[in-house]
Amino acid sequence: MSTINHQVRLAARPVGDPRPTDWEHVEETVGEPGDGEFLVQVLCLSIDPAMRGWMNAGRSYIRPVEIGEVMRAGAVGRVIASRHSGFAVGDHVSGSFGVQEYCLSGGRSVTKVDPAAAPLPTYLGALGMSGLTAYFGLIDIGRPEPGQTVVVSGAAGAVGSVVGQIAKILGCRVIGIAGGEAKCRLVVDEFGFDAAIDYKSEDVRKALRDQAPSGVDVYFDNVGGDVLDAVLPRLARGARVIVCGAVSQYNSASPQGPANYLSLLVNRATMTGMVVFDYADRYAEGTARLATWRAEGRLKSLEDVVSGGVAEFPDTLMRPFRGENHGKLVLKIAD
Ligand SMILES: NC(=O)c1ccc[n+]([C@@H]2O[C@H](COP(=O)([O-])OP(=O)(O)OC[C@H]3O[C@@H](n4cnc5c(N)ncnc54)[C@H](OP(=O)(O)O)[C@@H]3O)[C@@H](O)[C@H]2O)c1
Repeated sequence: MSTINHQVRLAARPVGDPRPTDWEHVEETVGEPGDGEFLVQVLCLSIDPAMRGWMNAGRSYIRPVEIGEVMRAGAVGRVIASRHSGFAVGDHVSGSFGVQEYCLSGGRSVTKVDPAAAPLPTYLGALGMSGLTAYFGLIDIGRPEPGQTVVVSGAAGAVGSVVGQIAKILGCRVIGIAGGEAKCRLVVDEFGFDAAIDYKSEDVRKALRDQAPSGVDVYFDNVGGDVLDAVLPRLARGARVIVCGAVSQYNSASPQGPANYLSLLVNRATMTGMVVFDYADRYAEGTARLATWRAEGRLKSLEDVVSGGVAEFPDTLMRPFRGENHGKLVLKIAD
């Protein structure tokens, strides 16, 4: 009996917030692996705000998803058939398998993961791309020194929660910016940040004057927009701003740039964009360090797992833009 693969394909390029009509739900028969291929049953999908950017046409750090193509998504799954010498039936793997239930792979950029060492969703979060983004962005570009003040936005999210914890491990004072009292409590009580600022109810610029009286040495920006503009005037001399993402701007046709950028001049500061894919040849180093910190109990990983399968993808993708996720957002596809 043939198996049906439920997929979500891009039907139209969204203007503003993606709508249900921007997606096409397709059923296909699952193919047999050819020579050098294996078949993955997808178990968990990584839901990333960056997916919104991949839906746009035009030049970016990665090619756009084409109309009619299965939506790109990082995922973990299990090999269920193989004609590849490096991957055997029963192996658990992580790769870009897309928003679908089954994926034929030739093994490119696929890594094996060990479900005995960590739950599978963690390989999409602290031990996956989110963790690696936090690690390389903070350490390579932020270059924090012990005693310095590190501020991170999106602090209760996948990348931000790891950034703050690494900065604490490195001996920094860490301030998180997040939306709402519950997320601010999570950031301090669960992830061990020194302080949190609720950008929805507080004046961020004023709060930073109290929380970081000597200025901000490293700002890891996940959200852009007004929050970025509120942090810039509080930079310390020689500060490093990491432009990791701009969740507040991804659905806007005319993204808002920073008005307070002259603070970079006054403070001899730098603002640097980073893309985690540039560190592919160092993923093993990053993953090993993150796994060690996790095993030592110094790095907590929080995953927000939504169930419902691929049909739930369009709505789940909107959750980070509504601030509905705590930690890494994962869509469960199968047990
Ligand atoms: N450069 C790279 O290589 C790379 C790699 C991975 C991820 N990223 C970027 O890293 C950032 C964080 O990704 P993530 O997966 O960790 O997402 P996330 O932080 O888990 O989720 C996004 C969070 O953004 C916040 N947010 C939403 N709208 C906002 C607004 N208007 N203003 C301020 N905050 C808002 C929400 O938290 P609140 O409830 O606190 O508002 C939401 O939970 C994203 O910008 C993503 O694109 C970059």
